[in-house]
Amino acid sequence: MCGIIGYVGSQQAVDVVMDGLRRLEYRGYDSAGVALVSSGELYAAKRAGKLANLDEALSQDPLPRATTGIGHTRWATHGAPNDVNAHPHTDSADRVAVIHNGIIENFAELRAGLEALGHDLLSETDTEIVAHLLGEALPQHGDDLAAAMRAVTSHLEGAFTLVAVATADPHTVVAARRSSPLVVGLGNGENFVASDVSAFIAHTRDALELGQDQVVEVTSDTVTITDFAGRPAEAVAYHVDWDASAAEKGGYQWFMLKEIDEQPRAIADTLLGRTSPDGRLQLDEVRLSEEELREVDKVIIIACGTAFYSGLVAKYAIEHWTRVPCEVELASEFRYRDPVLDRQTLVVAISQSGETMDTLMAIRYARAQNARVLAICNTNGSTIPRESDAVIYTRAGPEIAVASTKGFLSQIVACYLLGLYLAQVRGTKYGDEIATIMAQLQEVPAAVQRVLDGAEQVRALARDLADSPSVLFLGRHTGFPVALEGALKLKELAYLHAEGFAAGELKHGPIALVQEGLPVFVIVPPRGRDALHGKVVSNIQEVRARGARTIVLAEEGDPTVLAYADEVIRLPQVPTLMQPLVATVPLQVFACEVATVLGHDVDQPRNLAKSVTVE
Ligand code: M6R
Repeated sequence: MCGIIGYVGSQQAVDVVMDGLRRLEYRGYDSAGVALVSSGELYAAKRAGKLANLDEALSQDPLPRATTGIGHTRWATHGAPNDVNAHPHTDSADRVAVIHNGIIENFAELRAGLEALGHDLLSETDTEIVAHLLGEALPQHGDDLAAAMRAVTSHLEGAFTLVAVATADPHTVVAARRSSPLVVGLGNGENFVASDVSAFIAHTRDALELGQDQVVEVTSDTVTITDFAGRPAEAVAYHVDWDASAAEKGGYQWFMLKEIDEQPRAIADTLLGRTSPDGRLQLDEVRLSEEELREVDKVIIIACGTAFYSGLVAKYAIEHWTRVPCEVELASEFRYRDPVLDRQTLVVAISQSGETMDTLMAIRYARAQNARVLAICNTNGSTIPRESDAVIYTRAGPEIAVASTKGFLSQIVACYLLGLYLAQVRGTKYGDEIATIMAQLQEVPAAVQRVLDGAEQVRALARDLADSPSVLFLGRHTGFPVALEGALKLKELAYLHAEGFAAGELKHGPIALVQEGLPVFVIVPPRGRDALHGKVVSNIQEVRARGARTIVLAEEGDPTVLAYADEVIRLPQVPTLMQPLVATVPLQVFACEVATVLGHDVDQPRNLAKSVTVE
């Protein structure tokens, strides 16, 4: 959730911080603020609303020159999104400023303690108590901000990234992390801390992954890491393999449009280098041995939102190819149902950001129960792959729009690679069968490109249907999660009532929703799955007979749907298991265009944040 940046160097800190916040705004955008240390004084500015409001405030009332600063974009948890609750927060004496991502669970108790000591707290946030605690701790620790931070963390429960500056030490930024993201950017004569690398990618691509319960003290040329007890600690260094231009809009109106268009590349890159010279599938980052994978007797996929739907798609392939039972579960529900896990269970955690708190908590639970955990993730250095036994990275590049698009398709591809790899080591598929499926996957980027080339039809349809109060999506087999994803996209971007249903469930209730003119998208499976295909065609007839306006996604050359479709969106002919990779794309385009027509901010929909780092 919230975006965080800290800077120490020789540049104008406010410029570096504001530039970082622009790149981080996708993490939270209900308010923003900066704090600088200059000539022994603390200067801060913060505004409710989008970053543009802060920008304007700063242009009217500029802050003094400073080379140390912190900045924050907020996604509210405690307290409404207003100027007072915006970060940074300061202590009573204005000697310390702090920004925070996460939730401090014992904040009510800490707040009461501070108030009893006479502290006057101005905001409703849990963050402000940290500023006051730091203000108390600093003199007790000889004005050493890192030592004060370590002392304060011992009082905090919950998940947090905290970044602070203090007048006592104007050339230092100190940060602490527990179960919430924090990376360090290593520059030349300047250093950064941030919630993700996009904040400083314009300055450096060299980064450090901080571990759990660590404090980092950053000056322009030193980075000192300790654990919360003050013992020296290590962090893993890595190099980011994309540059600033990948995180720019590149002429598109929305990041989402750019990311939709990047999908052929994202799929191709996720497939790159996965086959060894002898034709066997190889997954370099899978740190589980073939022996361990042969022992697996159950796969449980855990994820949230769109990533969860990619897991629902993957289940069909994994069970089909490996004959290992595969369950798919919402990460937020997983640990509350007392799941049956043991050493033979392979838990697959899917997360684009690698920071989703529900998923992180679920994998911690799974590992505590002795299960093996494999992450499918798009973000190098993020927490979920770091806390997993193994990882397959999707190579979609940075996904900035809140709505996941290339993340989704590359997650399906990575799950398929896992399924094929399991099939290979367990011997449930012959090598030539795996090679055939790999060849089919290699053809998907071109098929997705064909869908993109024909997207104007979908945009026109979106303009036509933008005033519909409600839209339904139907599918069977892998078309069912595609229907769910189509509905989610429309809800989150266009704020329309939208539901996805398994087409066979229609007659068990949802068909009562169908009335004259209701737009119903139906994803028709390829004709290769004969029985399934015919059943879905019958479902189209059922809703059309009740007045629905049917928008049918069917493969090229399928004539059977013509009689029942008010509109046909043609999909390239691909094998059944590949169809979600092409069928999802028109639904993404549709939601994006409806939201645009309705005048919504597509990249930053209301109430949402890209990375959900609270439970
Ligand atoms: O980063 P993750 O893949 O773990 O995120 C999971 C969901 O929060 C995410 O997919 C969300 O549903 C998207 N906004 C959907 O477009």
